[in-house]
Amino acid sequence: MHRVYMDANATTPLLPEVMEAMRPYWLEHFGNASSIHQHGQKARTAVDQARETMARFFNCHDAEVVFNSGGTEGDNTAIFGLLHPGDHFITTSIEHSAILQAAARMARFGVDTTFVAPQPSGLIGPTDILRAIRPQTRLISVMLANNETGVIQPVEEIGRIAADTGIFFHIDAVQGAGKVELDVRRIGCHLLSISAHKMHGPKGTGAMFVRRGTPIEPLLVGGSHERRQRAGTENVAGIVGLAKAAELAMHSLDDGTIYRLAQMRDRLEAGILQLPGTGVNGIAANGSPVPRAANTSNIWFDNLEGEALVIALDMKGVAVSGGSACHSGATEPSHVLLAMGVNKNRARASLRFSLLKTVTDADIDHVLQVVPAAVEHLRALSPVAAGTLG
Ligand SMILES: Cc1ncc(COP(=O)(O)O)c(C=O)c1O
Repeated sequence: MHRVYMDANATTPLLPEVMEAMRPYWLEHFGNASSIHQHGQKARTAVDQARETMARFFNCHDAEVVFNSGGTEGDNTAIFGLLHPGDHFITTSIEHSAILQAAARMARFGVDTTFVAPQPSGLIGPTDILRAIRPQTRLISVMLANNETGVIQPVEEIGRIAADTGIFFHIDAVQGAGKVELDVRRIGCHLLSISAHKMHGPKGTGAMFVRRGTPIEPLLVGGSHERRQRAGTENVAGIVGLAKAAELAMHSLDDGTIYRLAQMRDRLEAGILQLPGTGVNGIAANGSPVPRAANTSNIWFDNLEGEALVIALDMKGVAVSGGSACHSGATEPSHVLLAMGVNKNRARASLRFSLLKTVTDADIDHVLQVVPAAVEHLRALSPVAAGTLG
């Protein structure tokens, strides 16, 4: 069976070059980067080189890169590391649970959070952020690209607001990294989090940009690793893998791969939209497009259950997801789509197609063959279609 993985926003496979770059650091160069002997020096050199690559990726100084375990840790660090009782925090209602749950915990410690709602297109309005600011506001956190809709947020405008008002600004760039160019200087953020496994690097590895002078408390304390910003023996192979993935991601942005990816996604989307009772989550009310990550298409299918369609497609070799993977198993409709004003039934009947940058024309053809048949079959069976499910 032709198998097509279209769940890249959940995770991506290692690229072979990433695997090859990491391999020696598990086997021959296994040293602890803090040791002074040759084994340690080899590991330290690899970490230093990876840091240089990540500094290019972010457009920052080497000393502003902190390696960590991924997006959840970066998001938690921004919130737990900067906010104190009595502070006010601004974020959005469409963030990943790594932000939302951290904000919920901080409420117990006297931090009040404003969750700015998106417009129906999924875009966060900079003026809505501005309006939410209070004298006690210490931190704004807004994601670069939404994991469910792919909508890219106006972070530069929000960065200007943060600069003008003297508020710290964190960006969850987990879904944006590798899909749009990152430039922390241009954006004007103080903190930015990424995760390797969303861009063909290893799981459990990530990095954070921490602008020099940002008074952030480390989440983990112990040794003096990462300039005392993140204790714990460096995951050298993981760090090497992250840097290789970042290097390849920079090439992909330059060599037309991401542009081609957007064209493939558009072909897929146009093909699926030929079906009656379908539409895209993440476009303006007048139907005009908003900026979106090149690989993501979130589509609603009226009169069927999204979960049933995920299973039907899986049986035909097509892996997609309904809502975000982090909520898989839960039957609750996506908090992102609900926040955009999508009704519950439509939110439940929405699927996320997130393409790998290695997607082929044959993959798109296969999905365009399988989806209409599965949709028609389910609609014929569905109690939703028959109007018996509210
Ligand atoms: C937007 C966003 N932020 C944070 C995370 C968490 O990243 P990680 O899996 O590296 O902990 C994810 C993962 O799905 C994500 O999509």
